[in-house]
Amino acid sequence: MKNIIAPSLLSCDFANLQSEIEMLNNSQADWLHLDIMDGVFVPNITFGMPIMHFIKKHAKKTLDVHLMIVQPERYITEFKKAGADILTVHYEASTHLHRTIQEIKTVGMKAGVSLNPHTPISVLEEVITDLDLVLIMSVNPGFGGQSFIKNTYKKVEQLKKLLIKSGSNALIEVDGGVSNQNIKALANAGVDAFVAGSYIFNSDSPSQTISNLKQLLD
Ligand code: DX5
Ligand code: ZN
Repeated sequence: MKNIIAPSLLSCDFANLQSEIEMLNNSQADWLHLDIMDGVFVPNITFGMPIMHFIKKHAKKTLDVHLMIVQPERYITEFKKAGADILTVHYEASTHLHRTIQEIKTVGMKAGVSLNPHTPISVLEEVITDLDLVLIMSVNPGFGGQSFIKNTYKKVEQLKKLLIKSGSNALIEVDGGVSNQNIKALANAGVDAFVAGSYIFNSDSPSQTISNLKQLLD
């Protein structure tokens, strides 16, 4: 699957979470991207399983869960129970990454690994065929509304080459600073899934903005 738009709830109105989710259910969004931050791996704290349970109750789309927490292997089963469909952990946060990936798949979720901007693609060589998704951070994780790091294009191209060489079917997802200014160029470089938070939720009509992004990919 290509041209996946995954709005990040990080920038939504959490006081009206149900209506935000219903808006996304009725929009052209493909996935809902949930950013889980622990205040240790990243300098910010968001929400955890209790809130996710409520999101799952209303969401009709794939829950794409991005864990920005240390030792994510501690909570794999809990995130499955909370409704995650895709569970992405950070390479930098999991010492026994191979085991973590297997456990995510064993409990019935798609497995993703995310790389911070400074982390080279080459660290994934030994696990790439086990992965369903690679999430390339195009900002330093922790906050919405930051500027897109242009070195991301090079990393996407390198990842694309690694996928072809290894025969891996992993999807390429990019997260941070995605907007109408760069989405097409990212798609041309090989990106399958696009996370966008502030660009969508700070617009006058998030639903229309999602359609507009989709159209740019046609
Ligand atoms: C940042 C998060 C992103 C964030 C993107 O750490 O992982 O998902 O919501 O926000 P924007 O699209 O505003 O850069
Ligand atoms: Zn994210």
